[in-house]
Amino acid sequence: MCVIDREPRDLNQAERTILTTLASVVMDQLEVRLAARRVAELEESERQMGEQLRQANAALAESEEHFRDLFDEAPIAYVHEGLDSRFIRVNRTAMRILGIKPQEVTGTYGKSFVPDTPEAQLRVRQALESIGRGTDTSGVMLELRRKDDGKPVWIQWWSRPDPSGAYTRTMFIDITDRVLMEQEQARLETENAYLQEEIRSEHNFAEIVGNSPALTEVLRKVDQVARAGSTALIVGETGTGKELVARAIHDRSPRGCRPLVKVNCASISAGLVESELFGHVKGAFTGALTNRAGRFAVADGGTIFLDEVGELPLDMQVKLLRVLQEQEFEPVGSSKTIRVDVRVIAATNRDLQDAVRTGRFRADLYYRLSVVPIEVPPLRARSSDIRQLVMFFLSRYSQRLGKSVSSVSEEAMDRLVRYGWPGNVRELQNVIERAVVLSRGPVLELDRELGLAPLAGNEAVEAVSEGPAKFVTLEQVERDHIVRILDRTGWVIEGLEGAARLLELHPNTLRSRMGKLGIKRTRHEPR
Ligand SMILES: Nc1ncnc2c1ncn2[C@@H]1O[C@H](COP(=O)(O)OP(=O)(O)O)[C@@H](O)[C@H]1O
Ligand SMILES: [Mg+2]
Repeated sequence: MCVIDREPRDLNQAERTILTTLASVVMDQLEVRLAARRVAELEESERQMGEQLRQANAALAESEEHFRDLFDEAPIAYVHEGLDSRFIRVNRTAMRILGIKPQEVTGTYGKSFVPDTPEAQLRVRQALESIGRGTDTSGVMLELRRKDDGKPVWIQWWSRPDPSGAYTRTMFIDITDRVLMEQEQARLETENAYLQEEIRSEHNFAEIVGNSPALTEVLRKVDQVARAGSTALIVGETGTGKELVARAIHDRSPRGCRPLVKVNCASISAGLVESELFGHVKGAFTGALTNRAGRFAVADGGTIFLDEVGELPLDMQVKLLRVLQEQEFEPVGSSKTIRVDVRVIAATNRDLQDAVRTGRFRADLYYRLSVVPIEVPPLRARSSDIRQLVMFFLSRYSQRLGKSVSSVSEEAMDRLVRYGWPGNVRELQNVIERAVVLSRGPVLELDRELGLAPLAGNEAVEAVSEGPAKFVTLEQVERDHIVRILDRTGWVIEGLEGAARLLELHPNTLRSRMGKLGIKRTRHEPR
């Protein structure tokens, strides 16, 4: 600090004080200015930082909004859940698929959607364990039940743990439509296969010929039973028309437009009965390469015809009883219960009451089946039907074979009416068909050896004694006898009603003899 003067001089006390004071004032001012500038600079940088922060916040909010939007609106279901499967966050698609409302999300456990069947529970447990180990589950298929209406939904499920391990992130898509379609397709394929089988087997229209009092009584019962919709048991000798009666009941019932599925309990091998009836899942046993719907599932809404029900193994009888009572069953290898609405008609040529007494048939099943028993009388007990039947088969086979055989001589008709028909209508049908084949004119020619022996079981002897026995070789007799028996059984070889049993031969022995004797089934014979 200085004072400007012309010459140097010492300052007096007062001057020095003033100047010193002034100097300190000036210094203060300078410092204040400096500080102010610093403050301004700081304020500016703070403002800039604030602005940057605001921008960053805005960007963050925008991206968060963006992700929330994606999460919520995504067509895929997203769920964040705790390791105990408790929901943390769930998007809209997930809520829609699972049938829950936003306010229900917290407090809901993913596990609670899994139905209480051992199979579904096991799959979820395995899936959860693999997440616990930190492994991905990719594309697992799970069956769930919606919370609101309990309806089944099938999902394809991906889940992986959050890197922190504290929760899992799960995505799934609804594949219910696809699964239902596949199930329906499988059912239709099986139904189609069964129907093809039906068409190939016999199926002569449900035309029941005859008006004897005995048959009229049967038809009256058929109508009653058809309307009542109850289970029916048809009993009667082989070839009396039990299957025809079963078809008539089905056709005249309200289920007539749905399938009638036939099961011949005698011709399915014991090991396969269960899978035939109830279906199986893939891998249930060796050879079960795909899921297969059983006949009960195919008959849903319609009727199942259990032919030769007396041959059903005892363990199957228990399962059948359950279907009759509860209308539900489980396919082989599956714990999933299937419910069906099926009417059961059973038939047998066996004395079931006797089978019950000897323990081969369950009493409870017998009573359940025989609520309405229908007995089809043997043909010999309604011989007044024979004429009509003869004319009926005559016109059928001459049409089919393109021949114009149109009448039967009184003598031939007489023989036909007097014969005992141990093979019943089936035998009569075969005899007429063969006669039509062999006839040369418009009048039916009944060959003497057409199996018209008056006594059952004596045909071979008859053939020898009646026919030109001296010229017939033993081989010829054997051939004729086998053919006759085959005709009687409708060319069925195996089983209780099969030719092998009647001839007391092993089916394979019979087949090899037939081969040796050149016996072949040349025409379409109903079985
Ligand atoms: N009343 C009938 N009218 C016409 N055909 C009949 C009659 N009864 C049986 N049939 C025929 O006889 C054959 C044997 O009948 P089916 O119902 O298979 O006998 P079952 O089951 O009792 O052994 C079938 O071809 C069937 O069409
Ligand atoms: Mg039959």
